Amino acid sequence: MSGSDIPYQLRPSKFIDRQIFVELLGRLIQSRGPEAYIYISMGGRHLVDHYAVYKDLGIKAQFSFDNDKNQVARQAFNRPTDTTVCATMDSADLPSKLDEIAGKFPSKRNFIIWLDYTGTDHKAQLQEAEEVLVRLRHGDVFRITMNANLKCLKEGSSGNPAERAKKRADTLRSRLGGANVPTSVTVIDDDPLSLARVLAQCVALMASKAKLREPSLNFVPVLTTSYADGQRMLTMTCVVSEQGHAEIFPNANFKRWAFARRTWDDIQDISVPVLSAKERFRLDANLKKSGKKMLTALRFLPAENEEQSLLELASYKKFQRFYPAFRHVDD
Ligand SMILES: C[S@@+](CC[C@H](N)C(=O)[O-])C[C@H]1O[C@@H](n2cnc3c(N)ncnc32)[C@H](O)[C@@H]1O
Repeated sequence: MSGSDIPYQLRPSKFIDRQIFVELLGRLIQSRGPEAYIYISMGGRHLVDHYAVYKDLGIKAQFSFDNDKNQVARQAFNRPTDTTVCATMDSADLPSKLDEIAGKFPSKRNFIIWLDYTGTDHKAQLQEAEEVLVRLRHGDVFRITMNANLKCLKEGSSGNPAERAKKRADTLRSRLGGANVPTSVTVIDDDPLSLARVLAQCVALMASKAKLREPSLNFVPVLTTSYADGQRMLTMTCVVSEQGHAEIFPNANFKRWAFARRTWDDIQDISVPVLSAKERFRLDANLKKSGKKMLTALRFLPAENEEQSLLELASYKKFQRFYPAFRHVDD
């Protein structure tokens, strides 16, 4: 079963990741006016992210695309507003279509763009992201999700740990091309987050190339997360500010947000346990206690061992208010 086929009630981390994004958007664009924005993403079959930005931020100007025609027919069936446009399109065509998409919503000034990739063609993804970035303007928001599953570097699955780590780095470099991987990357070790860390550096490098092409634009990282409900994924969000623009973006209050980040590679790992309602209630009643005491309150390990259980409980404490309840059919 692929990550996207796992039911959402078994994918709390993906849900939390999306909810943090929606809260981030609120922080970034509320004072600028969400009604000035066009939201563009691959919405998947149910457009869950489009529903979220509509319900929480009131953004009605929405564009969803997918390279699977049937998926798009399903999106059209599910679209949250009658202004949501669903199109069959590959992400490779997005950069050249941005003006056309803007033309569908003539009164809007800015884009929020989320490239929510599932595949592992990281080279094409980085190229597409760069082509999108150079076309953005002050006030825009850009987000990219990439597959950071170590297993996608199959060549690094044999040998001793040091050999594996070197082989993986060599494989990634040959797939992406030397110019797309920082020279400092020489190993990708067995740590589940290690590929995510390296890809975060590759995205930072890609953004610096976009900056060289459009020197008046600043691409400011605001949030980097990773989770592994099915496969491990990395998601990075940045905003665009133009040098010399009268408005400071993001505004000074942004750094007070608990999840705000100002570097590309400061990854927040969302690794919450999959909990029943009864388990959640017990943890919530003990939320102010230490991880060990929360574990004692449960009287079982929610993960494979105590160390992992404590890590997951720490993650639960951090992201508890975003944890899905799945009471609403459209969540
Ligand atoms: C992870 S799902 C989107 C989930 C959605 N954003 C959400 O928040 O629930 C990714 C979708 O993008 C489509 N997709 C993947 N790669 C694509 C590409 N390169 N171009 C167009 N569509 C793509 C897939 O068919 C899938 O429906």
